[in-house]
Amino acid sequence: MQLGIENISFATSEYVLPLATLADAVGVEVGKFHIGIGQENMSVPAPDEDIVTMAATAAQPVLEGQDLSAIRTVLFATESGIDQSKAAGVYVHHLLGLDQRCRVVELKQACYSATAALQMAVALVARRPEQKVLVIASDVARYDRDSSGEPTQGAGAVAMLVSSNPAVLAIEAESGLHTADVMDFWRPNYRSTALVDGKYSVSVYMDALRAAWDDYREQGGHDLAAFDRFCYHQPFTRLAVKAHRTLAKHSGELTDEQADEQIANTLDYNRQIGNTYTASVYIGLLSLLENAEEDLSGKRVGFFSYGSGSVAELFGGVVQPGYREMLRTARHREQIQRRREIDHATYTRLHAHPDGLVGGDHEFTPETTAPFRLAAIRGHKRIYETVAQVSAPADASEVGASETVATDTAATSL
Ligand code: CAA
Repeated sequence: MQLGIENISFATSEYVLPLATLADAVGVEVGKFHIGIGQENMSVPAPDEDIVTMAATAAQPVLEGQDLSAIRTVLFATESGIDQSKAAGVYVHHLLGLDQRCRVVELKQACYSATAALQMAVALVARRPEQKVLVIASDVARYDRDSSGEPTQGAGAVAMLVSSNPAVLAIEAESGLHTADVMDFWRPNYRSTALVDGKYSVSVYMDALRAAWDDYREQGGHDLAAFDRFCYHQPFTRLAVKAHRTLAKHSGELTDEQADEQIANTLDYNRQIGNTYTASVYIGLLSLLENAEEDLSGKRVGFFSYGSGSVAELFGGVVQPGYREMLRTARHREQIQRRREIDHATYTRLHAHPDGLVGGDHEFTPETTAPFRLAAIRGHKRIYETVAQVSAPADASEVGASETVATDTAATSL
């Protein structure tokens, strides 16, 4: 029996900051961002967007035409949690109208937890093949302003329906694992921005890659030559290039040029969106499937998932014949292209925006043009609503000028 991803979709934020704007503002040569770290733009959420709204937006199309009663598990992976107790997936479950006969849980291990969710989903479906699991990864990557991580911020969510009908990607059983207690990147409970030891984080990422590969091979995994493409966790796209060259050297099987070809197209979306933490490797998969010109049917794709702190996993999957019929390429490209560009002053205002950490009440002016929004925080409860979608204004220079119409203000203030 084959198990894996039946359907997959992503969402990102309302606003975008070109890294050229950031480079100008902080006095850095733009080549450092465009070439040195391989990033061009970064998604910036509006105040009425968060991991819940992006997750619901990503998951909505995946559920179209599905028998919702078959989805008895929702696994929500994130490291940008909005509550220390309640799983963000419970809000999403409500917004999407999922069946109440369902378990919902949140998973955390930095940028790795979506992969844990995917593997757990496969295990659940192996036991009950008639059931499906909705796996969602959603994150907002935030660092302090003027820190080394600032140009690697971003925001996005990916939703994957895991089933015994893996119309997009069948996931193979062999897996290479590596856990090491390191302090390369972390976010204490009292902070909304992550702390990072940048150079060290790159070094331990590479250590984890080599170790996970060695374990993968010991577990009976394929040699590198058996893979056609590779998707990496991409905090910035240049890291994926370096990582695959590192693996090629470690295994002794590929030249740098061959390694670069294997990751081509997996970088396209991430270069425009920025780091999406636990969603990043799977947005890389969508980028590959939707931007590669060749037919990838039957091709084996390798995945390297890394979450600081750290846990890493390396595994493979085979793209299924007919996968193109499952894609939403135009919708995804439009999501990236329609983001409204902001200037540096607006970015600094959004970066400092109160997000509930201070504990006060907030009413959020409609800004997002996504189908779901955070309407308010009242009495320490987050109030979400479903909105009818209208187009973004033609002149998007003024943040706060978007029109969204609430259609379900019953929302989830549970
Ligand atoms: N034109 C072209 N290239 C230029 C340039 C120019 N004008 N100026 C500089 N560069 C190049 C540099 O030569 C360098 O290239 P190499 O890496 O090949 O040497 C590159 O641009 C970056 O320059 P620096 O090393 O000087 O950059 P930095 O120290 O300011 O920042 C970083 C690099 C520390 C990785 C930083 O991006 C960072 O802190 N990022 C966040 C942490 C991170 O993403 N770590 C990844 C592993 S951890 C993980 O994966 C989990 C996660 O999601 C966070």
